[in-house]
Amino acid sequence: MFDRFPARVITRASDLDFRPVDAPAREEPRRVLMASPTYYDVEYVINPHMEGNVGRVDRLLARQQWAALRAVYEGLGYPVEVIAGAPLLPDMVFTANQSFPARLPDGGRVVVLSIMRSARRQAEVPWFEAWYRGQGFQVARLDEFRISEFEGGGDALWHPGRGVIYGGHGFRSSIDAYGALSGLLGVPVLALRLNDPRFYHLDTCLAPLDVSTALFVEEAFDAEGRDLLAACFDRLIPVPIQEAERGLAANGHCPDGRHFVVQAGSVVTRERVQRAGFEVLEVDTSEFLKSGGSVYCLKTMTD
Ligand code: ARG
Repeated sequence: MFDRFPARVITRASDLDFRPVDAPAREEPRRVLMASPTYYDVEYVINPHMEGNVGRVDRLLARQQWAALRAVYEGLGYPVEVIAGAPLLPDMVFTANQSFPARLPDGGRVVVLSIMRSARRQAEVPWFEAWYRGQGFQVARLDEFRISEFEGGGDALWHPGRGVIYGGHGFRSSIDAYGALSGLLGVPVLALRLNDPRFYHLDTCLAPLDVSTALFVEEAFDAEGRDLLAACFDRLIPVPIQEAERGLAANGHCPDGRHFVVQAGSVVTRERVQRAGFEVLEVDTSEFLKSGGSVYCLKTMTD
């Protein structure tokens, strides 16, 4: 079944000899994994959004916002599982980053563990490894001698409903991670270079909505990346740069091809997404924006 879609890394539209929509179908995962925000804070600066925000998180408000996001997923019918936050790991709450869970062609569940760029965040990964082991996932590691960085679901995004991965690189993940990821999972990876530090993870500048639609931040990609995305999605909806930066509007999440959960107040984005036929659910993630994260970063979909 994977013959027509050999595992490999593609960086240019001219090398793309299939359309992602024609790739093998993939069932969307149904479970949400979040980490409790008990120790969430901004204690150091590893992305431009964190600058000036050290010690400025309203931690009570953060907990309320986190609980409200959890309730939105539950309201949509997604069970939310919670891993306990750990002391001294203020970014652990961003569960998109420590791992990349997947299903193998034989139906087995596997998780690829991240190699976090920042030393402070590396200590988050073992907590997730333990959780996945407890859930019966096979655990896969990338070769740390060959691959320097990989930040999991922050940079690796599935094409909705298809066995194709988009892989952002340049800030938090190195491109060599994708050859390994592609080989491990048996799916093609379309690599996208990120060139604006405000959009340091792919999930801050690309939000796939359904099999033919995605939101993206034009300025965050180079010409090659923009061409590649144009070849993959029939409808590419641009997010205005101010909304992408201030409200991380491209960090919204569409779990089901119908609802788009996003930071409140990104009015142009909201209108464009509604016009494309999606229902927009607004949440306030102001305290997490201070750390450079919003909806998409605060969860990972497992199954
Ligand atoms: N402060 C965190 C960091 O810089 C935020 C991570 C946000 N996560 C994401 N998937 N974009 O690592």
